[in-house]
Amino acid sequence: MTLARSGRPETEVVFDPSTYLGGVPFEAITRLRRESPVVWVDEIPVLGWPAGPGFWLVLRHSDVESVLARPQLFSSSAGATQIRDPATPQALGYVRQMMLNMDPPDHSRLRRLLTRSFMRRAVCQLEDRIRGHAQAICDRVLTGPRGECDFAKDVAADLPLLTLSDVLGVPQQDRWLLFDWSNRVIGYQDPDYASSAVFDAAEGTPIARQALELRPTRGNDGRMPDPRTREGMPDLYAYAHLLAEEKRRHPGDDVMSILLAQVDDDGGQVSVAEFENMFWLFAVAGNETLRNGLPGACIALLEHPDAQDDLRAAPELMPGAVDEMLRWWTPVMTFRRTATADCELGGQRIGAGDKVVVSFISANRDEAVFAAADRFDIRRQPNPHLVFGYGPHFCLGAHLARTQMRALFAEVLARTSCLAFAGPPAYLRSNFQRGVKRLPITWTA
Ligand code: HEM
Repeated sequence: MTLARSGRPETEVVFDPSTYLGGVPFEAITRLRRESPVVWVDEIPVLGWPAGPGFWLVLRHSDVESVLARPQLFSSSAGATQIRDPATPQALGYVRQMMLNMDPPDHSRLRRLLTRSFMRRAVCQLEDRIRGHAQAICDRVLTGPRGECDFAKDVAADLPLLTLSDVLGVPQQDRWLLFDWSNRVIGYQDPDYASSAVFDAAEGTPIARQALELRPTRGNDGRMPDPRTREGMPDLYAYAHLLAEEKRRHPGDDVMSILLAQVDDDGGQVSVAEFENMFWLFAVAGNETLRNGLPGACIALLEHPDAQDDLRAAPELMPGAVDEMLRWWTPVMTFRRTATADCELGGQRIGAGDKVVVSFISANRDEAVFAAADRFDIRRQPNPHLVFGYGPHFCLGAHLARTQMRALFAEVLARTSCLAFAGPPAYLRSNFQRGVKRLPITWTA
């Protein structure tokens, strides 16, 4: 067992969500990847969560791909896709209704319906609107010859919400509900996010007010109910239910209206229950990921002022630069599978039923695939990063995420001559999302 400088086992340092308050432990991750690329991690009790059975952490790019490409052997459904096991069999049954936690063929049906709903016309329309949203945010924040702002809160938070409102057909005045919901789900290990309540009911639609009446509060133990159970998110489910009814009555041109109107290969339709789960998944997967990816990308530019200048001089470098920003930051650090049979991976014997956790943050710095992997290089080519996963669950929002990043940084860089840190960033306490809660910056026009 290798010990970190702190004297704790490196695997424990990498697992502990509190580690990430001080940044990603790249030194430990790199050493583990070189010395024991598939390594057993004990799940110590953390932050009031009991100890778990432990898991295999997969650190090499090729092994991560190999796990994600074989859903029959490494299942998303058996124990779902988070490191922590759902607390009860009921809770497991509940999360398995989401496509993220399904295996083929159940997964394939919903995936096909959803892919079809992102029709070319719908996507072109979304792209135009994203560019408009990025302009509006910059009009609001980057005014005058110079200034200071919190890039995470003032710039990055709103773009995914505005985009998701368009995708889900959520009225814009309700969009901060999505912010609170994804904070509660992703930030349950962080006291700032666990009971997020930014949305102001007075500004919302009647549907929002109705749903808000069900918002849970802290229990006697001071904790919010587990957000990975249906009981933990009654306000989200109420909202999704009311929205689905509304969209069946009055379809819009949003992706979810198209989805609800579709007929599958057996002549059936997406059920309201399926819609509700899809809504949950999009509200969380399409929001927090990008809200962390955008400030992470900004940090890359702040630490590399030459890249800022290069992009201002040659905006055509932006698509490649965005992929490098994504690789360098890697907003989603891990995902989990469960082995369905005894097997071998990276020289380790894996037992049936073992948890297998792939590390994107490690795979994206694997020197076997990326030359000078720690270097931020906006001209890196090719760049086969695994930021959006791999295989049948490859991120459905990858194109939308890239479009939002390109649109926002094109605007920000065109309107500024210099971006710089105005203080240290504050990071999220999580071993799943590489989150930025605050990013103070100064900018000069
Ligand atoms: C930088 C931003 C994003 C990152 C880093 C990211 C990352 C990921 C990853 C790693 C997966 C694979 C999970 C697995 O293998 O189990 C995934 C799946 C998914 N993502 Fe994203 N995502 C981002 C943005 C978005 C957006 C904007 C949307 C929607 C608008 C979205 C919707 C989804 C959905 C629905 C899935 C599940 C796909 C399936 O199960 O087949 N994501 N994402």
